[in-house]
Amino acid sequence: MNYPKPEQDFTPVHNMIIRSVSAQVIMEAVNSKIFDTLELKPATLRDLADHFEFDELKLRAVLDLLESWELVKNEDGYYSNTYVATEYLVSSSPLYQGLGMGLTMGFCAEVVRDMSELLRGRKSKRDESDNNWAAADVMEGTAQEALGGGLHNAVSAVAALPGFDEFKLMGDLGGNHGNYTMSILDRNSQLQGIILDLPAVVPLSEERCRENGYADRVRGIAVNMLKEDLPELDFDLLFASHILYSCRGELKPVVEKIAKSIKPGGWFCANHYTKSQSPLSDQTIASFEVITTFAGYFSHFIDPDVLENVLTECGFGNFSRTWSDANKGIMLVSAQKL
Ligand SMILES: C[S@@+](CC[C@H](N)C(=O)[O-])C[C@H]1O[C@@H](n2cnc3c(N)ncnc32)[C@H](O)[C@@H]1O
Repeated sequence: MNYPKPEQDFTPVHNMIIRSVSAQVIMEAVNSKIFDTLELKPATLRDLADHFEFDELKLRAVLDLLESWELVKNEDGYYSNTYVATEYLVSSSPLYQGLGMGLTMGFCAEVVRDMSELLRGRKSKRDESDNNWAAADVMEGTAQEALGGGLHNAVSAVAALPGFDEFKLMGDLGGNHGNYTMSILDRNSQLQGIILDLPAVVPLSEERCRENGYADRVRGIAVNMLKEDLPELDFDLLFASHILYSCRGELKPVVEKIAKSIKPGGWFCANHYTKSQSPLSDQTIASFEVITTFAGYFSHFIDPDVLENVLTECGFGNFSRTWSDANKGIMLVSAQKL
């Protein structure tokens, strides 16, 4: 046979396909509580196989893969969690990411399932995606992602705004789980918070904040910022994290509404992924955009220059930028209503 001899290297593509199983394996290890078990004490392959009634050959392959991702280590035949696994993959950890990972995996699975239809524009997931924010697991997963992705830096930057100690009312646009609101309220005892989110989400947000002891300080107002005005309550601060990407490229009408809801001299803080100066690889950014656009949104990234230009047009100034999560390229842009 006269088969052509390969000239180009196909290995990167081949490797990518093979490695794509990694995410599912890590998710399965989280869901089946391998990390929880290893947190109690190191264990041998046999111990784990007996404990979980797993096939030993396959479990070894799983553990090898987890070791290759530096999530477990193997010392003299005893497996234990690495620090990363202890911090993020053990379900009792305060920074547990299992539900957040499941949330992203769910988005990916839906994209994969309907990719062909979605690509041809025969189907839109936007309503489905918006409705999903009202599911308890999704809210908890989003909360976990916030804790693992720069909440502390964002809150510190907000608390450092001029006049913060005198602020009395803040709004959290797309506030969802309320973790940002509750953490900001912890920095100023006279501050009250309002979570502004879609109608189906707000009751869950209020319930979550109530359960966390903020019943007297946090309430919700249902609003669809694309279709309705925001309540004109003279907010001292309006905070918006990972929401402006739902504007479908029409940022200005939403920023105009934001401007009307804030008192003169008040502040707007936007916390979003940025592409410029992002440490994320091109592949990660591009993958993110596939997930986001196929889920029905415009883009997961907002360039701070673009945002500041729109904010300037809408009467804001005194801009400042801070990385809330430098590793993930999440930036907090603060702007004062002049
Ligand atoms: C990715 S979550 C962000 C949650 C939280 N701010 C954070 O950063 O962790 C997006 C939130 O925006 C809300 N949202 C999406 N479109 C909206 C709209 N048109 N009006 C109001 N809220 C919206 C969703 O319901 C969801 O709670």
